[in-house]
Amino acid sequence: MEKKNIDWSSLDFGYMKTDKRFVSNYKNGAWDEGVLTEDDQVVITECAGVLQYSQSCFEGLKAYTTQDGRTVCFRPDLNAARMKDSCERLEMPVFPEDRWVQAVVDLVKANEAWVPPYGSGATLYIRPYMFGSSAVIGVKPAEEYQFRMFCTPVGPYFKGGAKPITIRVSDVDRAAPRGTGHIKAGLNYAMSLYNIVDAHNKGFDENMYLDPATRTYVEETGGANFLFVTKDNTVVTPKSGSILPSITRRSLIYVAEKYLGLKVEERPVALAEVPDFAECGLCGTAAVISPVGKIVDHGKEICLPSGMEKMGPVTQQLYETLTGIQMGRLEAPEGWIKEIC
Ligand code: PLP
Ligand code: COI
Repeated sequence: MEKKNIDWSSLDFGYMKTDKRFVSNYKNGAWDEGVLTEDDQVVITECAGVLQYSQSCFEGLKAYTTQDGRTVCFRPDLNAARMKDSCERLEMPVFPEDRWVQAVVDLVKANEAWVPPYGSGATLYIRPYMFGSSAVIGVKPAEEYQFRMFCTPVGPYFKGGAKPITIRVSDVDRAAPRGTGHIKAGLNYAMSLYNIVDAHNKGFDENMYLDPATRTYVEETGGANFLFVTKDNTVVTPKSGSILPSITRRSLIYVAEKYLGLKVEERPVALAEVPDFAECGLCGTAAVISPVGKIVDHGKEICLPSGMEKMGPVTQQLYETLTGIQMGRLEAPEGWIKEIC
């Protein structure tokens, strides 16, 4: 398969229209067969549920070219399961999980020329999403839905790639106690837009959100979960009912324990204990593991001992092991890698 003529290594995390996308419609209580189409335009009524009441959710996963030239993706079954949870919370119909994973396979196969080559530093980002497409004017769920998936080649989420970033402790919340922080609702991201623009304008790469009930515990950023490393190499990750259950974080916990023999604690993490950590990173599909060098809490700087030049040693090991599994350099746990072609 001849690849597209793209300067893969200079890609950032952006959208590029690729050849095919998957589309399925839900009407009269059932999903249709679904098709792969070249048409990237969505045409819906002006009164669609998504436009009036933001009834939408999405997922994000990646496909990779392995060292030995296969095309694979990483744990798509977990994205399908998480989208089911999102749909149930938002009164949207679930797209069957086996068909969901098959659609990923068909989509990536149809866009194989766009899957970045091994070693290029880029990957193929897959964006499944669903929205209420029929008219609603009283506040209620739509009756018809569209489920779509497109893909686009991407580079690093944060400019500078593996360079440590600076984040700030946010004054606003992205989730509510007992709200929708634990699912991937589009509305969670709409909530965070003002705050990310403000953070960027003030020279920060991201926001650290605190627990919305007490504002004393660390939650996550706008698009990734946190991982901390203690001075004696224990990996610590925040536990909360209002953060997204990151598939990358769950995978890294396994990698830390089973591949690297590290101790892992998943527990509430107080903001007050952050200055005691040796390393901090953001983890997610887009972020992979992005090291955090500095956290600014209202003028008070918390400088991680790993510094602003490179990833800390444990973060680096986690990064190498996870990406080694994803790119076929290391043997993967059973069921983690879905072969595409
Ligand atoms: N937290 C938020 C708010 C996210 O948007 C994401 C991205 O999907 C993550 C965490 C990381 O989740 P995952 O590792 O499943 O991509
Ligand atoms: C992902 O990592 O897939 C996400 O959805 C995060 C988003 C902020 C790009």
